[in-house]
Amino acid sequence: MHIDVITLFPSMFDEIFSLSILNRAREKRLFSANVINLRNYATTNYKSVDDYPYGGGAGMVMQIEPIANCLAELQTKRHYDEIIYTAPDGKQLSQAIANELSLKENLCILCGHYKGVDERVREHLITLEISIGDYVLSGGELAAAVIADSVVRLLPGVLSDETSALSDSFQDGLISPPVYTRPADYNGWCVPQVLLSGNQKLIDEWRMEQSVKRTAERRPELLNP
Ligand code: ADE
Repeated sequence: MHIDVITLFPSMFDEIFSLSILNRAREKRLFSANVINLRNYATTNYKSVDDYPYGGGAGMVMQIEPIANCLAELQTKRHYDEIIYTAPDGKQLSQAIANELSLKENLCILCGHYKGVDERVREHLITLEISIGDYVLSGGELAAAVIADSVVRLLPGVLSDETSALSDSFQDGLISPPVYTRPADYNGWCVPQVLLSGNQKLIDEWRMEQSVKRTAERRPELLNP
């Protein structure tokens, strides 16, 4: 999978793409990323990429021209399966959306800023609008990082234990069961006996019970969608 990110703050991605799972995915050549500075496509001498909103009002609006020029150049090199715009009024990111995106070859993510982008960008150039939650961030970069992380970790071969993405919370509509590691007894706080029993059937049953119990307690809406 390849992801191009269009942003006004390219350095925000330096660490994100070069640490942990995303870096491992890049090293294994399962994933590549290119971060593009939108300012390089500014059409004015001042390198500005935003302007006042028609009709007045607070805040600046990202202009269509730099974005359209940037996308046009990128599209001479690859065909995107989705051109994603990060915005608080987009479709809320879910495990189901991450799963779907993980099946794609080429993604482009445009990070929003200021008051947003000229609506014509959304109408004509964007194929998918994603929000990471009902709160407003100062820019779309963190949202783009969340999208990239949630998608890339699902690519086959990225996680060392092939089954571990399948047992993630939400993957089967349930929250994951609790996990424990050594020591079995920490100052009297003991690991549930069943996990030490060696009986895989009992362990699997216990984990399923815990998942259902946790989901009912913490996210009951997942049980009755
Ligand atoms: N940009 C600002 N807030 C956002 C959010 N909640 N999700 C995605 N992009 C955003």
